[in-house]
Amino acid sequence: MSEKTTAPSPAPGTKNIKVEFEDGIAWVILNRPEKRNAMSPELNREMLGVLDALELDDRCKVLVLTGAGESFSAGMDIKEYFRETDNATPIEAMRVKRDSMAWQWRRLMFFPKPTIAMVNGWCFGGAFTPMVACDIAIAADEATFGLSEINWGIIPAGNVTRAVAEKMNTGDALYYLMTGESFDGKKACATGLVKESVPRAQLRGRVREIAQLLMKKNPHLVAAIKIAYRRVKEMDWDQSEDYLYAKAGDTYASDPERGRQKGMTQFLDDKTYRPGLGTYKRGD
Ligand code: ACO
Repeated sequence: MSEKTTAPSPAPGTKNIKVEFEDGIAWVILNRPEKRNAMSPELNREMLGVLDALELDDRCKVLVLTGAGESFSAGMDIKEYFRETDNATPIEAMRVKRDSMAWQWRRLMFFPKPTIAMVNGWCFGGAFTPMVACDIAIAADEATFGLSEINWGIIPAGNVTRAVAEKMNTGDALYYLMTGESFDGKKACATGLVKESVPRAQLRGRVREIAQLLMKKNPHLVAAIKIAYRRVKEMDWDQSEDYLYAKAGDTYASDPERGRQKGMTQFLDDKTYRPGLGTYKRGD
């Protein structure tokens, strides 16, 4: 089986989203800095096309979601997403919500390449959903997080509350959901919301380091592992056992680089590496 894919050219950026490629990383940048990268219906629609393109683009081996300027994202656009759709027909309103949810969790969670949320600054409300849907989230210590919905009169919907329940410990989740108080990157890390928090000056370098680590691994397995993890979280143990055996068999059979075979041969016969301490030699 071939790994060959089609590469659209030039970069699949749009009016509201910038895409930069760098050594296998696709930096997907929410690009409305004048609106603190608030997510409008237009941005949400555009993102679906961007993700479709990047899925097939060889220049994207790891996707990093971040924001332009001083903000990751100020959440949903209160004017364009809320006020301007108040008088929409039920079908129009449903479409706006559907486009938003389609990428903010479904598409990102099951994106067939590793995803990293690089939380560079403001991160409010609706921005929690795509951040949590990424496989790994790394924040700047100086970033400001907030479940600010309570502050302007709504409950955190659009799956924000679900996203918070997925990652944050219960005590912190309820406190920040109910008070709307903001917190920094270090606190976000302590609550389980992000994996790490580093000084802003080191943020891009740290994210690049993690992306490079992921790129050393067999991409077919990385995709299968993340999807299996997300599926089994929703299953009971019996269903999970069946699913994982079937998924393992399918992954092995469809692996273009025959990783399992190489891994066993190099450990058991060639004795050239130890699986507990590193990856088998890829290539050849
Ligand atoms: N929706 C719509 N417009 C926004 C949003 C937003 N979420 N966030 C910022 N903007 C706009 C402002 O209205 C302003 O527009 P203008 O220049 O046309 O007046 C511009 O972006 C800059 O915003 P300021 O408030 O002036 O920027 P500042 O740097 O002082 O503050 C901050 C940044 C703290 C992010 C502030 O803009 C803010 O509180 N935004 C709302 C954050 C929020 O509560 N988001 C949750 C939304 S609810 C949800 O996502 C489900």
